[in-house]
Amino acid sequence: MDMLKITGGKPLSGKIRAGGAKNAMTKLLVASLLSNKKCTFFNVPNIGDVDITVDLCKEIGSEINWDKENKTLTIHTPSLKTSYIPQKYSGSNRIPILLIGALLGRTDEDIIVPTIGGDLIGSRPIDLHIQSLQRLGARIEYRDMKKEGAYFAQAHEGLKGAILTLNYPSVGATENSILAAVRAKGTTLIKNAAIEPEILDLILFLQKLGVHIMVDVDRTIRIQETHEFHEVEHTVLTDRNEVASYAMAAISTKGRVFIEGAEHLQMIAFLNKIREIGGGFQVHANGIEFFHHQELRGGIHLETDVHPGFMTDWQQPFVVLLTQSKGVSVVHETVYENRFGYTLTLKEMGADIELFTHCLGNKPCRFTSANHIHSLVVKGPTPLTGKEIAIPDLRAGFAYVMAALLAPDTSTIASANFLDRGYEHLVEKLISLGADITRIPSTQKKSSPSIIV
Ligand code: UD1
Repeated sequence: MDMLKITGGKPLSGKIRAGGAKNAMTKLLVASLLSNKKCTFFNVPNIGDVDITVDLCKEIGSEINWDKENKTLTIHTPSLKTSYIPQKYSGSNRIPILLIGALLGRTDEDIIVPTIGGDLIGSRPIDLHIQSLQRLGARIEYRDMKKEGAYFAQAHEGLKGAILTLNYPSVGATENSILAAVRAKGTTLIKNAAIEPEILDLILFLQKLGVHIMVDVDRTIRIQETHEFHEVEHTVLTDRNEVASYAMAAISTKGRVFIEGAEHLQMIAFLNKIREIGGGFQVHANGIEFFHHQELRGGIHLETDVHPGFMTDWQQPFVVLLTQSKGVSVVHETVYENRFGYTLTLKEMGADIELFTHCLGNKPCRFTSANHIHSLVVKGPTPLTGKEIAIPDLRAGFAYVMAALLAPDTSTIASANFLDRGYEHLVEKLISLGADITRIPSTQKKSSPSIIV
């Protein structure tokens, strides 16, 4: 894996353009497999996760033409070549499991998906996916195979619409349920569904595809059986995680960055927290400008949540921002039970952070009595010093990049390829903003896909 060398202490300043959303584009590709018509996507991010999903779709029989220069991709899957996902994708990401929902109504063959890999932000089970698909009539079982296990799924007797009630509004389980419901007989209701902007983007795409789909006022998604599909042109929404990441890097380094393409509607919870700590932003017609204009104030309580709450993927870089804010702040992670591993490295860099297993804040969460470390107290401001760091996952990776941009001496960050999975041209964008950052390519051969977060 490649390495980054960063010498910090310089304010980021300038203009960048945000790319299309990783968490939308990957799902849109999978959703296109529902139909045998051509789909064209614009604003496609050139990131590792899209690469992996493209390869996955090609395995299945998709014809794909990706013009990376123009960020345009066409996908056409006239027929399925196979519904067996090779084991090399096992543990690679959260996408293969969604193929069950997309393909169940399209093939009589078993859909075979190798084990979803564990990862570093909690156990990330798929029980809600399986329960929903089973309620729609799928038969799913887990079988041991040569090297490891795989899920075998089929709906030989067809899928039948049902009322699905998720006991937690999981993004992935909502997506899988929507995909399977498209070809399920009659009407399906998904109650307590996730309504993240990327899911709404998926719904927009499906509506263009010809699907009868709507979101009720109480977060119920209603889908009617559809078999006739149309060709679709779709512009992928902006990556709110990329926007938030550069926004926090700009403010913490006392800089000023205009992010073209940043969409206000997706960022409400984020902008409120930025305002609460005294960070500056101005919403323009074509993007949002973020800047530092006064001493940052800590003393806040931050709770991650499902949309429209404060997104869990913004949490790690926000904690870095809080290390630069005056006062004591509390962060309560309610989405993942184990998303504070990165704080150990931050502490070694000089951050003052204490971890807790109980819920700090107003609201008890699902992890109340589970003894998971999911709350923290951070005191700032504290200067950070450079360090040799290895990246465990995508968002922690950006938090480390931010911490290194703040430390006036030099840090080296190993396993930098994790960042390629969600950040398009990260090094080039940071250099254009004045950062002192170099990428040192690995001398070893490229390894197979690893974890998506
Ligand atoms: C997606 C995003 C990720 C984001 C997350 C929450 C992608 C590729 N990733 O992940 O960036 O952080 O949404 O916004 O889109 N859970 C269960 N059982 C299940 C499914 C989930 O208990 O069957 C739990 C998980 O363990 C986790 C929580 O629900 O604690 C949220 O997971 P989920 O919303 O499903 O996230 P992902 O779709 O994996």
